Amino acid sequence: GKIFPLPIFLSVEKNIALNLKLNQTYNLSYRNQNIGKLKVEDTYRVNKIKACKKIFKTSSLKHPGVRKFMDTKEFFIGGTIKHLNNSIEKEKYKYLKPSSVKKIIKKNKWKSVAGFQTRNIPHRAHEQLLRTSLECSEGLFIQPLLGNKKKNDFTNEAVFKTYKFLIKNYFPKNKILLGPLYASMWYAGPREAVFHAIIRKNYGCNNFIVGRDHAGVGSFYKKYDAQNIFKLFKKNLNINILKFAGPFFCKKCDSVVTENSCKHFKKNKKLIIEISGSEVRRKLLKNMKISHKIIRPEIVSILQKIQNIFINK
Ligand code: ADX
Repeated sequence: GKIFPLPIFLSVEKNIALNLKLNQTYNLSYRNQNIGKLKVEDTYRVNKIKACKKIFKTSSLKHPGVRKFMDTKEFFIGGTIKHLNNSIEKEKYKYLKPSSVKKIIKKNKWKSVAGFQTRNIPHRAHEQLLRTSLECSEGLFIQPLLGNKKKNDFTNEAVFKTYKFLIKNYFPKNKILLGPLYASMWYAGPREAVFHAIIRKNYGCNNFIVGRDHAGVGSFYKKYDAQNIFKLFKKNLNINILKFAGPFFCKKCDSVVTENSCKHFKKNKKLIIEISGSEVRRKLLKNMKISHKIIRPEIVSILQKIQNIFINK
């Protein structure tokens, strides 16, 4: 009966799987470092295509999450794990444990905290979501996902540096906490939105922000699928979802607004400037100028000073 939206797994090659002894404990290592122990209780194979259809709603190899899942090894291992945590502590951007974040929330006396997931640099629509959330939450935990992402996504450095700048220069100091989430991005849209919400609940947030096409990629999911999935878990998720319609710039209102607060977008589409992360990425990749209505010029200048702003593997 527990909600488990995305699988967490360890896959290994056949020759390793066949040599494992059941109920024996093995060391787990990552980048040549011991990170935990695993008592092997099960080895199994998965029908990967069937699994992809359930997880991603597609088995198309054009989907980066599907490609990554299809690339896993032939066997999977199940068992009890003991985590040593030391690998994350060595990462460049300081890892904050859920228990440390809960302590900070308590110290700041925040009665409500909104969690924010992102894998991108901040544009004006993100900023609008953050500001609106602060109207109904006493604190905000901005937690960029730094980890395995797809080619042409922003590097950890680009995301973390731009958020640091935005928070330092534009948000009240005692209301924001910034910390990385070291995890893999699966681009699984709605299911990943639930996964992200559960993680933030475990970090002590009582609100979680879900905007347009959360954790989506290309046109695999509809704009608000990731919001609608939460209707299935009204009772047992224990975190409130702050659902936001996509903010855009309206020339008539002369500000970033949403469909809920602007009367012009229906009558005249020419008055609207859409704000989308993919568009920002496309323009940055081509070195094109981007309007300050879409992204702060200061954020663009920070990016221009960073050697690698896009993942290129
Ligand atoms: S994500 O893959 O981590 O979801 P991103 O960093 O772009 O990507 O989004 C972070 C959060 O902001 C998500 O909840 C997403 O739905 C929301 N968001 C991003 N861009 C927009 C936008 N233009 N309008 C509404 N919400 C947005």
